[in-house]
Amino acid sequence: MSVTLLSSPLQGFTDFRFRNSFNQYFGGIDTFYAPYIRLNGKFDIKPAYQKDIALKNNEFLNVIPQIMTNDADEFLFVVKYIQSLGYNELNWNLGCPYPMVVNKCMGSGLIQDVKRIEQILERVHNESNVTVSMKMRLGYDNNEEILEVLPMLDQFPIKNVAIHARIGKQLYKGGVDLDGFERCLSVSKQKIYYNGDITSLESFNMLHNRFPQIDHWMIGRGLISNPFLPQMIKNNSPEFPADKIEVFSKFHDTLFHEFEQSLSGAAHLIIKMHSFWEYFIGIFPEHSKALKKIKKAKSINDYDRVVKEILSM
Ligand SMILES: Cc1cc2nc3c(=O)[nH]c(=O)nc-3n(C[C@H](O)[C@H](O)[C@H](O)COP(=O)(O)O)c2cc1C
Repeated sequence: MSVTLLSSPLQGFTDFRFRNSFNQYFGGIDTFYAPYIRLNGKFDIKPAYQKDIALKNNEFLNVIPQIMTNDADEFLFVVKYIQSLGYNELNWNLGCPYPMVVNKCMGSGLIQDVKRIEQILERVHNESNVTVSMKMRLGYDNNEEILEVLPMLDQFPIKNVAIHARIGKQLYKGGVDLDGFERCLSVSKQKIYYNGDITSLESFNMLHNRFPQIDHWMIGRGLISNPFLPQMIKNNSPEFPADKIEVFSKFHDTLFHEFEQSLSGAAHLIIKMHSFWEYFIGIFPEHSKALKKIKKAKSINDYDRVVKEILSM
């Protein structure tokens, strides 16, 4: 069975700058989901979201925009916006676990409200011709919540449901709940994609063996901590290429340059790159102590020195 790999969105990380830099040097991802668009009560798309999904910034990528909302009018407003750009699929985020979101009955906090999900989907399908796909957790409080939602979805032409096999309350702690995920497969006619903790070829193969019927796999944090992972999965080889350091260095420099142009001042740039290094260090475990030095860097020169040390150049 062919394997389709999708980049699971990470707000603050997988914007167009990361997506393009990643795609230039690594590849292996078939489709990128853009981090969510959220309206915050105003019918207005923030410039940062506009930039992120603008076609000119995503020329060489397959991208699907995402929305996080609990309101049909907001949903339809964003549908109109993405359709005006030429997109025709909008992914709906019912997975975000953070209290600020959940308390407003959004993200994974909406999973419990089957009626509201149904009403929103009804209006979106009656009032637009957009293709809807969904990304959700197993629930917020427990892993049975999704079992109420999935059968209801069968009345709509949902393209697919990507399931992050955790509950919201867990945030990112604890393991993925594979039995909970398996139950979803038995109650749903939807095309289900798997998401959660694909961090190595080994973990991918374990999941692939357990769920042979799944052919779409979403990788989130694993893509940042090992950008070579999609190629490893597609080549079925856990080996890094011989030019690992060169390829990674070029990727790093491209990403750095992108952020240098968009962020003002060394301090912001270093904070941004440090947040990436918290993941990147995954493929340079022998340099884990260098993370602190990146955090403490006071200038771009300091930063460059530590990066050279990690990449041993
Ligand atoms: C910092 C951060 C930001 C995230 N932003 C989004 C987002 O914008 N939309 C979304 O659907 N999921 C978001 N997620 C969830 C991931 O896409 C993914 O579902 C989750 O991390 C589990 O997959 P993984 O184990 O492969 O990372 C985010 C996760 C993290 C850690």
